[in-house]
Amino acid sequence: MYRVKILPEDKSIDVLDGETVFDACCRAGIMIQSACGGVGTCTKCIVQVKENVPAPSPHGIRNLSSTEIEQGYRLSCQLKVHQDLLVEIPPGSRFYGEQILTVGGASAPDVDLDPNVRQYYCQLPLPEIHDQASDFDRLARALVADAPDLISGLDQLRELAEVLRENDFRVTATVSGRRLVKTEVGNTRGSVFGMAYDIGTTTVVGYLLDLTTGKELALASRSNPQAAFGHDVLARGDYADKGPEQRKELQHLIVGCLQEIAEECCEKARAPIEHVYEVTFGGNTIMTHLVFAMNPRHITVSPFTPIWSRAYRVPAIEIGLKLSRWATVYALPSVGGYVGGDITSGIIACDLERRDDLTLFVDVGTNGEIVLGNKTRLISCAAPAGPAFEGAKISCGLRAMSGAIDKVSYDEAEKDLALHTIGHHPPRGVCGTGLIDAVATFLRVGMVDPGGRVLETDEAKEKLPPKLAGRILASDNGSDILLVPKAKTLERRRDLTLTQRDIRELQLAKGAIRAGVDMALKVWGVSGADVSKVLIAGGFGNYINPAAAMAIGLFPPDITVDKLEFVGNSAAVGAKLCLADRKQRQRVERLAREIEYIELSGRKDFADVFMTAMLFPGYEES
Ligand code: FES
Repeated sequence: MYRVKILPEDKSIDVLDGETVFDACCRAGIMIQSACGGVGTCTKCIVQVKENVPAPSPHGIRNLSSTEIEQGYRLSCQLKVHQDLLVEIPPGSRFYGEQILTVGGASAPDVDLDPNVRQYYCQLPLPEIHDQASDFDRLARALVADAPDLISGLDQLRELAEVLRENDFRVTATVSGRRLVKTEVGNTRGSVFGMAYDIGTTTVVGYLLDLTTGKELALASRSNPQAAFGHDVLARGDYADKGPEQRKELQHLIVGCLQEIAEECCEKARAPIEHVYEVTFGGNTIMTHLVFAMNPRHITVSPFTPIWSRAYRVPAIEIGLKLSRWATVYALPSVGGYVGGDITSGIIACDLERRDDLTLFVDVGTNGEIVLGNKTRLISCAAPAGPAFEGAKISCGLRAMSGAIDKVSYDEAEKDLALHTIGHHPPRGVCGTGLIDAVATFLRVGMVDPGGRVLETDEAKEKLPPKLAGRILASDNGSDILLVPKAKTLERRRDLTLTQRDIRELQLAKGAIRAGVDMALKVWGVSGADVSKVLIAGGFGNYINPAAAMAIGLFPPDITVDKLEFVGNSAAVGAKLCLADRKQRQRVERLAREIEYIELSGRKDFADVFMTAMLFPGYEES
C-alpha cells in the first residue's frame, strides 16, 4: 500500500500497488477528465508528478511532448503506483461536475394533470353495527371512482386502523397507480411531488414538479459523473462489460447524481424529499441500461440489440434512490439500441407525430439521432458522430465550461480571428460550438479549403492577411491553426491550436449527422426543400450558431437557415409530460412501437452518402 498526495487539496490517498492514479482519485471522489475510457489515447487525464517522478508510459511517450514529460506530466490513467507520489491535478484535467452553464429548456405543451400518484381527502362514514366493512374496504369504497381496484401493502394495512380513528375517519390517502401507499390523519393534500430527469451522456438535468398543481418548482443539473469512465457511451459500455461490480459502480454514480439533484431541488422548493413519490426519465438506451445496472454490451456490437427497450417501472428503492419509500421510477421506452428514451421523449415534447407538415428532428450530440416524419409516418436513424462536438478527440477540446472558447469570428478591422470564451475566463480549450464556429470561420476566410485541408504555411502567406497567415503553423501532420499562444492560456502549458486531425474529426462528426439526415430524406423520398421545420434538440444543439452550422454543411443546402428551430432540452420536457399525465405514457409507448428504424450501417448506399456528407459546402459546389 502506498500514499499518493493530491495537490492542490493536499489530500492523501492510500493506493494499492499497481492501481492507477486515475482510479485511485475516482475512488477518493476526485474526478479527472477522460474521453477514452482510460486507454491512454485522449490525454485529458494529464497530471503532474512532483516527487518520485516515474518513467513515462508508452502512451505517455506517444502522446505528450518531451517538455511535458521532462516537467513530470503523465497520463493518470496509465500511471501505476509503485511508490509514494506527490501529484498535482491541473485545472484543465479536472472533471468539474458543477460547471454546467445553462440548460436549454423547451417549454412544455399544455397537458392534463393526471399523474400516476394522487392524493384524496376522504371523510369516511364511521363503522357501526349495520356497517361492519373492514377499514380498508371502507377506504376503497370512497376511492372506487378513481382507483377501482385498489390494493395495499402490509405496512399500510398495519397502521390503517390507528390513522383512521385519530380524527374520526378523516384521512388523506395517497395512491400510486392502484396501490395505496400512505394514509395520513386529516387533510394533508398538497404534499405530492415528482422528479422528471433527462439523463444525458454528458449532463443530467432534473425538475421537481408539484403533482397536485402541475407546477414546476425547481430544477438542478449536474455533469454525468460516469464521464470519468469515458465521454461516450461506448467507452462506458466497455467498462460496464467488465463485470457486475463495474456495472454497480456505474449505477451507483448515476443514481448518486439523481439523488443529489432531487435533494437540491427539494431544498430549493422546501419540499420534503420523502414526499417525492414518482420519478420519470428519458435517457439514451445505454444510459437507461446503466441506471438499472444492466449490461449494455450487445448494444455496442452488431447487430446492436438492447436487453430491454420497452418502458420500465420499478420501485425507486430497488436502484438505490432514497425518496418516498414508495416512490417508483418510470423509464421512457426506446425505439432500439441507438434511438432511446431521450428521443421518444423529445418526439412527444415536440408533438412530432401530430404534425401535418414534414418535420426533421435532430438531436446533435455524441450520437446524432434523427427522426423525420409527420402524423402519417415517422422514421428514425442514429449517426455515430463521436465526441468531437463535445470537445473530446480534439487536441485542445473541452466540454462547455468556463474558459472554453465557444465563439470564433473574423474581425474585419483587425483582419484576424476574434475569440470569445465562456465566462470571459482565460482560454483553456475549445468546446463543440466553438469548434463549429472556428471551422465555419476558417472556411470563410480561406484558412481551410472545402476539402478540409488546412493551408500550408507558404500558401497561407500568399493568400491570407498577415495575422491570419501567422496563425498557420507547420507540423508533422499537415498544418495547425494557432488559436491562443501558450502565454495567454489559463495554464500556460501549451499553445491552443486546432490541428489538421481536429478538422478531420469535425468532418467525421458533421458528416455522420449530415449522412443520417440525407439517408432519412432518401428513405422517405423527399428533399430538404420538402421539410418545413428542422427541430434541433439537446443541450448542446441549443448553442450552435445556425449560420455556422449551415456553413460547415451540417444540413443540406435546400434546408434554409430560417427553418432551423432550437427546441432545447426536449428530452426533459417529455419526461415532465409523462410525470404529469399518465396518458402520455401510453402515447410514448405506442410511438416507440410504431417508429420505423433505419440501421445505417446495414445499408449499402450509406458509405457513399457518408463520404459526400463529410465534405464542406464549397467543395460540393466545385
Ligand atoms: Fe487517460 Fe484518456 S488518456 S483517460
